[in-house]
Amino acid sequence: FGKLFAALTASVILATPVFAAGKTYQVATDASYAPFESMNDKKEVVGFDVDVLKAVAAKGGFDVKFINTPWEGIFATLSTGDRDIVSSAVTITDERKQSMDFSEPYFEAKQMIAVSGSSKVTRFTDLKNLKVAVQTGTTGDEVVQKLQGKTSPNIKRFESTPLAIQELLSGGVDAVVADNGVVINYVANNKGAKLKVVDDSSFAKEYYGYAVKKGNKDLLTKINAGIKAIKADGTYDKIYKKYFGN
Ligand code: ARG
Repeated sequence: FGKLFAALTASVILATPVFAAGKTYQVATDASYAPFESMNDKKEVVGFDVDVLKAVAAKGGFDVKFINTPWEGIFATLSTGDRDIVSSAVTITDERKQSMDFSEPYFEAKQMIAVSGSSKVTRFTDLKNLKVAVQTGTTGDEVVQKLQGKTSPNIKRFESTPLAIQELLSGGVDAVVADNGVVINYVANNKGAKLKVVDDSSFAKEYYGYAVKKGNKDLLTKINAGIKAIKADGTYDKIYKKYFGN
């Protein structure tokens, strides 16, 4: 009995700190969206979203494991239970809110246009009758649908944003519409590609949030507490500066 008791006590003592360190949540991210999420040489997911969510988790009392997950079907991984959080530069939209819950916003963004350096496009409405590449089901896809109509044959959809940009580089389309941070990052880091960025004041503000399965209040509470804490203590600003300067 003494031995059994000792073994039980030991396992309780061992188990307690593990439990207190918090649960590990599986995080879905489409890691082809630098500087928010991408794969480094060691096949690790890195980027602004990773740094922010890790800091949020540290404050919220939980752990996160990032898993590169295709964008198409990324939200379905929440309802199936394969993933607990989608952290993928996800814009909070009313439509998405119907099938999942969102944290408080953690980043402000908007759409932006990439065209070849010699393009005559100067504003979004110039794309009305031009060929535009987007990542399927993104807010970029949505704004182009609004301009050209849902069934427009000039919208070319790709499963990732790099593939959409590839299509622009090879001359298959006249423009790409995607989130500003990603467009600016690509054009700045690929000078040889001779692309330019076209901004347009008509694009609405978008806010990134973390998506969880509808009704997962427990996790949302922890995430929101973490977001609040890293904004209050300067951690968020530090990470922001690391990726976007000033
Ligand atoms: N913010 C846009 C949206 O939510 C694009 C996000 C794409 N994210 C990614 N990692 N590919 O629709």
